[in-house]
Amino acid sequence: MAEEASMIAAIGAVAANGVLGLDNWLPWDIPEELAYFERTVEGAALVVGRATYESMDVVPPDSFVVSRQPDLRLKSGCHRVVSVEEGLRQALATGKPVFVIGGASVYAAAWPYCQRFYLTRIEREFAGDTLFPDVIPLADWSVLSERVESYLERKSGAPVACRFIQYEQANPRVP
Ligand SMILES: NC(=O)c1ccc[n+]([C@@H]2O[C@H](COP(=O)([O-])OP(=O)(O)OC[C@H]3O[C@@H](n4cnc5c(N)ncnc54)[C@H](OP(=O)(O)O)[C@@H]3O)[C@@H](O)[C@H]2O)c1
Repeated sequence: MAEEASMIAAIGAVAANGVLGLDNWLPWDIPEELAYFERTVEGAALVVGRATYESMDVVPPDSFVVSRQPDLRLKSGCHRVVSVEEGLRQALATGKPVFVIGGASVYAAAWPYCQRFYLTRIEREFAGDTLFPDVIPLADWSVLSERVESYLERKSGAPVACRFIQYEQANPRVP
């Protein structure tokens, strides 16, 4: 796990055309990128939108699911929260590092509170129905690290470059 307790970070992946989702899943099939996500958030408290939560087979304990539905039933160890800010506060109270894991609507609300954004830029265009929010001013954040790997994208059978970038925001808001 990459972050210390009390730090709020976001993690996600985006295609060259800004797409991040298709049919409530990822537009691409790159197991190595998914494994990077799982490694990075291991042991963290997660803040996740209801749609993304429903797309996940395995949801770790201390996951805070943002939803306006008061009667939402969740897997054991998961908690409904009424807003992203409430989710961030409850996630911080666990004492674990906190990761915002999407989807688009949750990134759009959470970015002002994030000190880091772990963003994988997938250097190809993909068809999709959900876009990375263009309100997030990552161009103004500093780049802490950056590395590129080439992996086989399984749906197309073609290699694709994945650029793993860690951005840092200087003065994140307190939720
Ligand atoms: N590429 C990536 O890294 C990545 C990461 C995560 C997800 N995704 C993809 O993104 C897509 C889903 O994104 P999405 O934006 O459609 O859905 P989402 O953010 O996962 O969930 C949306 C739902 O969250 C709740 N919500 C969101 N903001 C809220 C707020 N401010 N207050 C209260 N509730 C709030 C609402 O739930 P209720 O309707 O229950 O009220 C809303 O319908 C999927 O395709 C998923 O696979 C991609």
